[in-house]
Amino acid sequence: MTAIRTEHLTHTYSPNTPFQKVAVEDVSIAIEEGEYVGVIGHTGSGKSTLIQHLNGLLAPTSGKVFIGEEDLWADKAKLRSFRFAVGLVFQYPEYQLFGETVYSDIAFGPTNMGLTPDEVDSRVRQAARFVGLTEEKLQKSPFELSGGQKRRVAIAGVLAMDPRVLILDEPTAGLDPKGRDKILGEIREYHQEKKNTILLVSHSMEDIAKNATMALVMNQARLFCYDRVEEVFGRGEELSRMGLAVPQVSRVFLSLAKRGIPIDPRVYTVEAARDEIIRCVKEGRQGK
Ligand SMILES: Nc1ncnc2c1ncn2[C@@H]1O[C@H](COP(=O)(O)OP(=O)(O)OP(=O)(O)O)[C@@H](O)[C@H]1O
Ligand SMILES: [Mg+2]
Repeated sequence: MTAIRTEHLTHTYSPNTPFQKVAVEDVSIAIEEGEYVGVIGHTGSGKSTLIQHLNGLLAPTSGKVFIGEEDLWADKAKLRSFRFAVGLVFQYPEYQLFGETVYSDIAFGPTNMGLTPDEVDSRVRQAARFVGLTEEKLQKSPFELSGGQKRRVAIAGVLAMDPRVLILDEPTAGLDPKGRDKILGEIREYHQEKKNTILLVSHSMEDIAKNATMALVMNQARLFCYDRVEEVFGRGEELSRMGLAVPQVSRVFLSLAKRGIPIDPRVYTVEAARDEIIRCVKEGRQGK
């Protein structure tokens, strides 16, 4: 089943003014349920504009967006339910915290959905558990927490709505490497347990390599490609020309393959690299 689909989606900011800017142009894409999609592209390529269409936060200038089989804009009365089905975590979401306690902040979404207090309570506790927030933190003011913990509260607020599709716009921006790995690990576990669809916008190819199954590459407002991660990283030279660095492992393997060494250039994780080197050495010995 398709989770989200766009058809010739185009978005122009400030149309018919001197500031007119086409930020997304003619993007048609179908994302299957359960995929973990890494969204990459240089600064200003249209990533944030694209994802804000997927829960109806921005309306297309032309083209369509479908959630499952339903046209997002066909019936405005349904828009609200689509916003619950597709949860969006903005870049630097901690600036949007406002609750008196961590608990009330996380409870805001599910309460708005009209769930009973008992259901809200279980949603809040489950979401807090996913992002590693202890019970004791729930009664604190979000403003007493560290940067990484604030970010977790904001992510938990979206998880508590139990969205079918979860979209995160650079959720690790500005965090140290340890905080980054921890949040990405939590999102990965959430994905494995819930089997829902995830879109993760990231500037880090290493993060995409470690987590995503599919990669969506934007280039100058257009979709460059949407394919399995190994296929996308196998196009290292084209990505480099777009100003995107491929993971270090990919770079090494692409250059080995270029020198005529019979190695699979689509390898992009350290674990797969180890296996591929062992395979290559063994076959080399047998060949002698
Ligand atoms: N509200 C706006 N009004 C006018 N132009 C905008 C607006 N928001 C974004 N843009 C422009 O649209 C283009 C795409 O921006 P967008 O934020 O979608 O890119 P991005 O890929 O998310 O970039 P980044 O990696 O820096 O977050 C850019 O040229 C940007 O300057
Ligand atoms: Mg952006």
